Amino acid sequence: MRKGAIFYPGTFDPITYGHVDLIERASRIFDEVIIVVMKNIKKKPLFTLEERLDMLKNTVEKIPNVSLDTHDGLLIDYVKKTGINVVLRGLRVVSDFDYEFQMALANKELCPDIETLFLMTNPKYSFISSSLVKEIAAMGGNLDPWVPDYVKKKLLEKLRKGGKDE
Ligand code: PNS
Repeated sequence: MRKGAIFYPGTFDPITYGHVDLIERASRIFDEVIIVVMKNIKKKPLFTLEERLDMLKNTVEKIPNVSLDTHDGLLIDYVKKTGINVVLRGLRVVSDFDYEFQMALANKELCPDIETLFLMTNPKYSFISSSLVKEIAAMGGNLDPWVPDYVKKKLLEKLRKGGKDE
């Protein structure tokens, strides 16, 4: 059974196998999954918006009902702009819960139509995050279990350039 559209907002700096797992699972439940790259004012991304989109595109292009979008502004404004009111977020560890709960409740207060759906992460990826992946990359660790080859290549290129854009 698949139902309607859901959007998956995030920074995706960069996409990891943890994100991919959620996207694949959501794509089996919903007719359409839209990955929306947004700004998290608490984070300073390593990759530009274009680079993050490029890595996302390369990673998810074979999943037929998944598409990409960007949005600058409040998450609830994306709901108002598109009419898609179901949001996907992943829950990895207990420490995610506080932040996610706060965000879901704040969004609900601002836009009562919104519904945030949480998928529990695959235990294999429960501790991995984009931040951890960047740290492992910076210290020369093995990235193969956590990111696709294309993302690994882009991470290593970026680090070789000292994390600076050209
Ligand atoms: O991948 P992240 O960094 O955990 O994603 C967080 C994100 C981008 C979904 C969140 O920061 C967000 O919704 N940003 C848009 C601005 C907004 O609406 N902020 C208030 C959320 S209550």
